[in-house]
Amino acid sequence: MANIKTDNNMIAVLGLGFVGLTTAIGLAEKTGRKVIGFDIDAARSRTLQEGKLPFHEPDLGDYLQKHLKQGSFKLASSLADAVVLADTIFFCVGTPSNDDGRANLTYLTDAIEATLDVDDTKRLLVVKSTVPPHTSCEVILPLLERRGLVVGHDTGLASNPEFLREGHCWADFMNPDRIVIGADDDYSAQTLSRLYSVFNAPIILTSRSTAEYIKYLSNTLLATMISFSNEMAMIADRLGDVDVGDAFKALHMDRRWTLPEVPDTPDGGDKEATGSTQPVDMASYVLPGSGFGGYCLPKDTKAMAHLAQQCGIDALMLHGTLETNELIKRHRADLIASRCTSKDTRIGIIGLSFKPGSDDVRDTPAAAIISHLLQAGYHNITVYDPFAMETFAQSYALPINYAHDRDALLASCEIIEVIKDV
Ligand SMILES: NC(=O)c1ccc[n+]([C@@H]2O[C@H](COP(=O)([O-])OP(=O)(O)OC[C@H]3O[C@@H](n4cnc5c(N)ncnc54)[C@H](O)[C@@H]3O)[C@@H](O)[C@H]2O)c1
Repeated sequence: MANIKTDNNMIAVLGLGFVGLTTAIGLAEKTGRKVIGFDIDAARSRTLQEGKLPFHEPDLGDYLQKHLKQGSFKLASSLADAVVLADTIFFCVGTPSNDDGRANLTYLTDAIEATLDVDDTKRLLVVKSTVPPHTSCEVILPLLERRGLVVGHDTGLASNPEFLREGHCWADFMNPDRIVIGADDDYSAQTLSRLYSVFNAPIILTSRSTAEYIKYLSNTLLATMISFSNEMAMIADRLGDVDVGDAFKALHMDRRWTLPEVPDTPDGGDKEATGSTQPVDMASYVLPGSGFGGYCLPKDTKAMAHLAQQCGIDALMLHGTLETNELIKRHRADLIASRCTSKDTRIGIIGLSFKPGSDDVRDTPAAAIISHLLQAGYHNITVYDPFAMETFAQSYALPINYAHDRDALLASCEIIEVIKDV
């Protein structure tokens, strides 16, 4: 059997979306190693080659240009070109929902198969895409075994979920609050731990399945907190005479929302250098709004609910979280409709992306709320978002007007609804 490849020091990243591109540039910046990236979307690769981002994300573009210029980040024109030079490969491709809620792993398994097709040199394969617990053991491992590969001997395999937030991709990747490494063999555990040792963050070294589970634990909690807040806000709306803003402000003043400050070190040293956890603003997920959207919380909550069902658990909390996430969008549409004097009322909607400061409109609540209004006959809708107008228009062919700027919308509409701060 061949030895695990150690002669080539390059890192390959497959899939250059929010996670992959940030991982590629972040690793080049932090580790000083050369990184080669590949995306199957040729238009996306061309944009990146010109030093431009294919999506809105602060800071990342500057570092993309820096590393392209230095030659520490290169774009490959084929998957084989990327993989053949690398000893470590990060898989950052999408894992969207199937119709039944299951995670669709086709992009991932295709990319792994294509990687294994390249040559028989052995490498460390790192799954950064979000995948359901047991994916490495039950889907990827058999795929490697069919090729006669023994993990830990002929190849490495690790799960390394990513926790960055869109809109903060660069800052979150460069300053992670934790790094989770799931590895069931020494080679994978040691290689990845060494790579991440330059980051000033605690490393949780655990099994592959636990690492996969941790990502879902995190995202389903965030989704549940959002749905809880929206359910409570809907109840308050129906009760009447409750100031929801005051109520949630008081809730957030509970000191248990903030982790205790780490005491100063006796020698007056840097607190961060102790590896201590920074206070985390979880309270921002406990606020009434329009529901959760984007690429992660909806699909990951659905995937976990599906997985629970498969193992005989009726996941009432997860189902409730998802159902409330639909109810809140109708509720927001009903509230807007209740302010209209007729179906001709000129409605202005501000905020189209799933979160402020982003152009990502995947599963955005704005699309559902506007669709509910249109179905109810409110046909005079104008929208504005500083970043997401183009992606929204491309993704949802809705019969609405797009305002040039915020002032134009404010001047032309009778009712203004801010779905997301922009
Ligand atoms: N977006 C987030 O905030 C976030 C955060 C943490 C984890 N994740 C997870 O990370 C993964 C990627 O998410 P994303 O938001 O970066 O997705 P994305 O859609 O922005 O990017 C995925 C990229 O993979 C490319 N791709 C697909 N098949 C490929 C192949 N065979 N070879 C090369 N490229 C291929 C696509 O063209 C696309 O550009 C998902 O599993 C997601 O759940 C996302």
